[in-house]
Amino acid sequence: MTITVCIGSSCHIKGSRFVLEELQAQIGKHQLEEKIHMTGAFCLGQCQKGVCVQVDGELFSVAPDTAADFFEHSVLPRLM
Ligand code: FES
Repeated sequence: MTITVCIGSSCHIKGSRFVLEELQAQIGKHQLEEKIHMTGAFCLGQCQKGVCVQVDGELFSVAPDTAADFFEHSVLPRLM
């Protein structure tokens, strides 16, 4: 699975760095380093929905304080 976090300027202002850090922490916590590839993008074209996070091509809107929830409900079930 590939997770792409937008680090373009609009998403950056909305806290993409913290979203990225939280997702990385969750990957570590669940020991999914082998299964999830994290990457960044400079703009996913949906700035108003930022922070934009793409999971295998599907776009999600994530905030720093919803990142853990997002991981649990939108990422983990896809790995089952
Ligand atoms: S900066 Fe993130 S979608 Fe444009």
